[in-house]
This record gives sequence, C-alpha cells and structure tokens, in this order.
Amino acid sequence: MADKHFLHGADYNPEQWMKHKAAVWQEDMRRAKEAGINELSVGIFSWAFLEPEDGVYDFTWLDEVMDLLAANGMKAILATPSGSRPPWMAEKYPSVLRMDNERKPYVYGARHNACYSSPDFRRKVTEINTRLAQRYANHPALYMWHVSNEYNYECHCPRCQKAFQAWLKERYGTIDELNDSWWNTFWSHRFSSFAQVESPTTPSFLGEWESPNHNLAWRRFCSDHLADFFQLECEPLRKYTPNIPVTANLMHTFPGIDYFELGRRMDVVSWDNYPRWKNDERDRDISEWTGFRHDLMRGTGGQKPFLMMESCPGAVNWDDVNTLPPPGTVLYQSLQAIAHGSDSVQYFQFRAGRGGSEQFHGSVLPPDGSTDNRAFREVCEVSDALCRIAPVCGSRTRNRVALVYDWHARWALDYAWTAHRFHQKYEETVQSHHAALCRAGYGVDLIDQKSDLTPYRAVIAPMVFLLREGFAEKLTAFAEAGGLVYLSYMSGYVDEEDLRFITQPPLEALTGVRTDELDAWDKGHENHFCWQGREWPIHQVAQLCSLRGAEALAVYERQFYKGMPVLTRNRVGDGVCYTLQARVDTDCLTHVLGGLLREGGIPPLVEHLPEGVTATARYDEDGQQYLFLLNTNREAAQVALPKGYRSLMDGRETNGPVMLDAFSVTVFAAL
Ligand code: GLA
Ligand code: ZN
Repeated sequence: MADKHFLHGADYNPEQWMKHKAAVWQEDMRRAKEAGINELSVGIFSWAFLEPEDGVYDFTWLDEVMDLLAANGMKAILATPSGSRPPWMAEKYPSVLRMDNERKPYVYGARHNACYSSPDFRRKVTEINTRLAQRYANHPALYMWHVSNEYNYECHCPRCQKAFQAWLKERYGTIDELNDSWWNTFWSHRFSSFAQVESPTTPSFLGEWESPNHNLAWRRFCSDHLADFFQLECEPLRKYTPNIPVTANLMHTFPGIDYFELGRRMDVVSWDNYPRWKNDERDRDISEWTGFRHDLMRGTGGQKPFLMMESCPGAVNWDDVNTLPPPGTVLYQSLQAIAHGSDSVQYFQFRAGRGGSEQFHGSVLPPDGSTDNRAFREVCEVSDALCRIAPVCGSRTRNRVALVYDWHARWALDYAWTAHRFHQKYEETVQSHHAALCRAGYGVDLIDQKSDLTPYRAVIAPMVFLLREGFAEKLTAFAEAGGLVYLSYMSGYVDEEDLRFITQPPLEALTGVRTDELDAWDKGHENHFCWQGREWPIHQVAQLCSLRGAEALAVYERQFYKGMPVLTRNRVGDGVCYTLQARVDTDCLTHVLGGLLREGGIPPLVEHLPEGVTATARYDEDGQQYLFLLNTNREAAQVALPKGYRSLMDGRETNGPVMLDAFSVTVFAAL
C-alpha cells in the first residue's frame, strides 16, 4: 500500500522576514520539522516581492524558498498572488480598483478587492501566473496550486456593468425575455435595451434594490463572473503544470459565490475554518456548526477528501472578543476536520509577523520563533495524532443521507418579500437539519440541486424556495424509485427565474400537499404539535396546507390552525415524501428526521449516541471503515459500539461500550 500521510502545514510568508532571512528561514525549517509539519503554503500575498515594479520580476527569493522547502522534505502549496496587490498597480492602473454599489471608487488598501473585469488586472494576473507556472513547473517542492485567497466579488464599475449586461444578453437573448422573466411590467420597469440595466444597489433610493428577480440575476452574475476569473487564473497553471492539482480556499457559507459551481472547477476543494470556541457549553453548538461547514465544503468538492487550508492554533485576533481556546481544542478541531473528510490540517500562519493587522493572530510560532509555548506543543500533538491515523488519509465518506444546501435557493430567499424579510434563516435552517441528522447518528452529505441523487437513500431538502431546472423531476423520480424525500415549509415557491407558478406547482404531486398560506411570527407567537407522545413547540414560520393525496401524521394544536396538517406523508411509487410545514427546534428535528429515517429502514452509523456525541465514517478503497466518535461534552461519555473496532489512537481493540475523553475525537478501524 502506498505510504499514506495527511498534509500538516501552514500559510508561510517568509518574505516578511527578508531582512532577517539568514537566521529566520533556516530556523523556520527546523521548527517546522520539529512540529511534524510537512507542507507550507507560500506566495499567497507575495506580489510586491515578485513584481516590485510593473514588468520587473524577481523570483530569486522564491527560488530560494522553494529550494529550502524541497531540501527539507516539505511540500509547497504555491499561491497565485491575486488576493492582494502592490500599491504601484493601483497607481498605474486605476481600473484594478473596485467600485461600490453607490458607485464610489475604492482607494488603494486592504485586500481581496480587485475588479475582475479590469483588463489591466486580468492581464497582470495572467502574466504573473504564467511566469510562476513556467518557473516552478518542474520544481520538486511544487505540490498544489492555491489560487488567490478567499475569493469574493462585487464591483459596480462601468466595466462590470457592461459585463453584467453581456451576461444578461447571453442568458435571456432578448430584452423582452428579460422583462418577462423579471416581471418588469410591474411599476413600468420594462427595459428597452440591455444597456439600461444597472446592477442593483443595497436598500436605498439610489437605484434598483427591490426587484427580487433583478437582485437574483446580479448574484448569479457575480458568482459566474468570479468563476470566470478563476478560470482565467487557472489557464496558465493548467497549461504548464497539467498534473498539479488546483484549489482555492473557500469560506463555508459565504453568500457571494455558488461554491458548488466553483468547486466543480477545482481539483480539490479547500476551506478556512475558524470556529470561535468559547470554552463552555456553547462549544457544542460551535462544534455542530463546524461539522456542518466541513460537510458543506466536502459537498462542493463532490464528496472527495478536501483540505482544511487554514485554522488557528490559538485565538484569532479579528473577532470583537478573541477568546483563547482551552488546551486540547486544537487537537479536537484538527481531528474534527479529518472526521468530516479532510486530508489535511493546516494553520494560519506558521510564524506570526511583528506588525500588520494580524500581528496578534494565533500562529504556530511567535515572531521570535520560540517553541516553549502551548500553540507549538499542541501542533506537535496534532502531528502525533495524524501519524497514528495516517491509514485514514484518502478515504471517502459513503453517506446515504443527503441534505440540500443550494446557493440559488438561498439567494432567492435573501430577496424574497415574504415571511421574515431579510431574515429567512436559510443557513440556520439547513444547519439545524444537519445537526439533527448528526444527533440522530447519521453521516450527512451536503449537495445542491444539480447534484446526483443516485448514491442516496434519503434526500432532506429544507427551504428549497427556488426550484432549479429539473430538480423537482429528479426528486420525484428519486422517490418513485424507492427514495425517502423530506421537504420543509417554504419549499418550491418559485421557478428557476424566481417566478411563481401558474400551473400546478412542481412539488405538489410529490408531496401530495398544496401550500395555501404562509405565516410568519415574531416572539411570543407560539403553536405546537404532538408526535410520538410528546408536545413539540413551533416558532417563527408556519405554513397552512391542504392534503392532495398525502396523509397528516401530525396536526397543529392551537388557534385557527388547529387540526390542520403539520407533518405529512405521501406514498410515491416505491418511496415516500414527507413534509414538515412549520419551523421547529433541532431537538424536534432530531426526533422527526431520526424517526422517519429509521422507519424507512435507513440505519444510522451508530445507534443511541449520548447527547453531545456524533459519529462520522470514512471508507478506503478496500472498503475498510474508519469510524470517528466526536465527544463535544466537556466531560467523558460512553458509547456502545455495534461491532468490534480497533482504536487508531492507542491500538486497543474494543467490542461494546467505549469511553470517550472529554471534548475529544476518537478514531477506530472496524475489525
Ligand atoms: C483568512 C485569510 C488569512 C488570514 C486569516 C486570519 O482566512 O485567508 O490570510 O487573514 O483569515 O484568520
Ligand atoms: Zn469592476
């Protein structure tokens, strides 16, 4: 078997230490090896040192760094430098600066703020990426490309307006088609040419901000425009280094980009994980959120192993209150990533700088390079654990339950003038369903509406407000073929263009339920339903529906809703479709979803998990199962395992109950 080992690495910015390089660079290599680090990500913000003047390049220092990495057995994840630009570029080519939605141009500063339509920026990026790819194509340290950094995009400059208009023309063909798709007859907003269409503004009377269809189109354009820029960045990399995988570091549920779409263009997805642990009972929720984010990021990469490109081996410095994670947290956070499918643990950053906005951000080494500190010791502990569980590297999840998270549904909800305007809680709702599934013992794959459903036995789809082309049909076929489908309130309200239906809504036949009215509540407004002998509170959102073939499994108990269906079941072909018509808490979802899945003959990974304990599993190509038990409690917990396992942590074999340490992740190999 090939020698497997996880990537254990960090962002490394040695050019910050150019004046001290003789002492610092060598020391960095020694320290990295002491900490069991085998990868360093370089060049992320190096443009000013790579191209100190327009057209004047200096790669000598990076040659030296790459050679140093190779000589010390380190893999290099080499970045393209577009995340940040040197001041000369803004001075010479002002088009690289973005314009905000009030049409004010940015001034030079900060990072992640270039205009992706700027021909100068596109040219400069292509030039430098080409040089990097040509120069390091055969370098032994080159392991992967890290394109830019934490991409985001929204620019309202005249060039981006033109790009938006061209995108619209491509999508709609004629202006009348656009007018009809956006329902522009309303308020006399019919455009007579694409040139009249401007990007929306934020809520203000400055320009368009109210049309949901227009806003949605802008979001889609921004996402596509960024994906196109990513493609531009990748061209020289793919041309000169076709065998080197390409990634870009993502930011979990960041609203501005359809990460599934971007992920499909990458070889490996990576993301930056910064949970703000509180050292109290809130850590359980934080752990659930983090697990959700890991699963979502794995989903955007098509469920392949992903990389945790950044995490903090201490406290971050950019939160309002920067709480220190207690001892053991770095290990928990690292193994949690592996449990959810990561093939790496990486930190930001290797050695903290002396100044700059991140001078006090947690790091593997403090600026003085000393190692007698907790962060360094905990990184060594992580390294030790990663060695023990090395056989897990490269293995994949095989979850049978899929949970839909879809950026288009989310965007439509963000702009929907209904229910809780601006606070529809899409992200929170999907996360709550995820937490419920995990608490019920299931491993979960996050998918979007374009994903293949065939690997799954159940598809859980909360708040799929907007139906993308073909999704309703795919879901129906899935149920007919024996699948279990669950849909929540506020699903299937609009089509791909964000228009309501005038024929039978596509989910009606599947759910056997017709949505009649939608109700939104604020605090103090309560209802409940009874299910399996318990009373479950309902809050915030309730939908009134009539049965068109489905049966009611539970009904509202109070007010004018009394007796109306809240939980429904419809038999569809060989399968079944459930709906939940109201918002409930995670505890209720755990019982409902757990109950429905078990009834559907879909077993959890582990039965009867104690509160605060979740399980995930990965499988290698030979079918060997690795089981992870995550105990988020700040005290030990006991779990009864269904069969024999060997702990990869200490080699002990178990059959039956195992004790989990407080706030720990334990990794087992099935016997
Ligand atoms: C992000 C960035 C890094 C750094 C860290 C700090 O993830 O990618 O450059 O700013 O945050 O937490
Ligand atoms: Zn622009």
